[in-house]
Amino acid sequence: MKKRAYIETYGCQMNVNDTEVIFSILEGAGYSRTEKMEEADLVMANTCSIRDNAEQRIWGRIEVFHQLRASRPGLIVGIVGCMAERLKDKLLDTHKVDLVVGPDAYRSLPRLLEAVRPDAPQIDVLLSRDETYADITPVRTDRGGISAFISIMRGCNNVCSYCVVPYTRGAERSRDANSIVREACDVYQRGYKEVTLLGQNVDSYLWKSETETVTFANLLERVAAIAPDLRVRFATSHPKDISDEVIYTMAAHPNICKHIHLPVQSGSSRMLALMRRKYDREWYLERVAKIREVMPDCGLTTDVIAGFCTETEQDHADTVSLMDQVGFDWAFMFAYSDRPGTLANRTMQDDVPADVKNRRLSEIIELQNRKSLERYRSQIGKELEVLVEGPSKRDPNRLCGRASNNMMCVFPATGRSKGTYTTVKVVDCTSATLICE
Ligand code: SAH
Ligand code: SF4
Ligand code: F3S
Repeated sequence: MKKRAYIETYGCQMNVNDTEVIFSILEGAGYSRTEKMEEADLVMANTCSIRDNAEQRIWGRIEVFHQLRASRPGLIVGIVGCMAERLKDKLLDTHKVDLVVGPDAYRSLPRLLEAVRPDAPQIDVLLSRDETYADITPVRTDRGGISAFISIMRGCNNVCSYCVVPYTRGAERSRDANSIVREACDVYQRGYKEVTLLGQNVDSYLWKSETETVTFANLLERVAAIAPDLRVRFATSHPKDISDEVIYTMAAHPNICKHIHLPVQSGSSRMLALMRRKYDREWYLERVAKIREVMPDCGLTTDVIAGFCTETEQDHADTVSLMDQVGFDWAFMFAYSDRPGTLANRTMQDDVPADVKNRRLSEIIELQNRKSLERYRSQIGKELEVLVEGPSKRDPNRLCGRASNNMMCVFPATGRSKGTYTTVKVVDCTSATLICE
């Protein structure tokens, strides 16, 4: 009989896609996917290490898995992803999980699962220079069948001083461009209308074969050429690397969505230098100006860290003024979390007290809420083309879908169906949704 695998996914979109790759590999080992933990033979968490609180959540989930294992003898409990890479010993020794597999080792899952015994946990956390899972067709876990994630690269070469990703995901490598285009064609043929190309720094995508060299702009162009009604999105862009070529390519193709997630992290050039972001405030503002010059309606979102090592009130004020000046549609904002092994952890003091970090975080969240409302209000009266995703969460009698600029719209269901494009008129808004007729 087929065995069943249940996986919970934490962290970034890359992890969501990795879980889909894992399900595909597990199929080869006789496991089918279940969404019910209670009926599973294999229970896993695909984990994130980006901040301490991300890891704390997982320790709690492992307890829940262990309780299930107590009532279901033979149940295999596995931890995969970034935390597996970072905390392998603690997971095996103190937390007694059966299986620990890092982000580059998913191909060894079938072999490890064969070998797992109650007294013989299995582990593979080797990082690779060339693994991109290019030939594996992910088992899509999105519910809608409209929008698919496609990984175009893995790892990161940027050693930002606060960040664990280079340690948990290894060196940057780009995936074969032809396999990316094939995967995008394949999902389009299966009815998907949107693909999101994923990487930690998509602008440094570079793939070479004997006959060709493909940059990120070239790749965007090739995916956009698949079909005019296939939308193309991407994340994440790095301010130091986003090129004019990418900006012009976006502008030239109506089906490349006009939205850029461009994490700034701080508005203070002194902080940016300590963070090793390799750009300063002026550079960032220049990139934003270029984007808006070429694509005035382009959506812009960002990530911000409050309270990084040595951050002063002046540095914080610089972040506030940058956010005020740019006016992002939306931002992910975090209090700095010291991560063991990073450059900041080894060479700097996490010296901003928790209460100061939290106060600064609240200040930027409060500012961003106002800015988001302003940005969403500026859309009132406009007609936007949206891709219908399905019923709205709040009101099942209405539908929801995103505009090209990534803003979520809700609108009446009459005469419209999932997976089609429709034009709606914005009549009202909140700071996160456009209400349309
Ligand atoms: N590759 C992307 C983002 C990766 S992580 C980039 O370079 O921007 C997503 C976000 O988590 C980061 O943009 C950053 O804002 C936040 N982050 C990363 N490490 C963090 C840490 N140690 N403490 C708090 N936030 C962190
Ligand atoms: Fe982390 Fe920087 Fe790489 Fe982003 S670019 S994943 S923040 S090291
Ligand atoms: Fe987290 Fe790893 Fe993604 S640390 S943010 S799951 S790359």
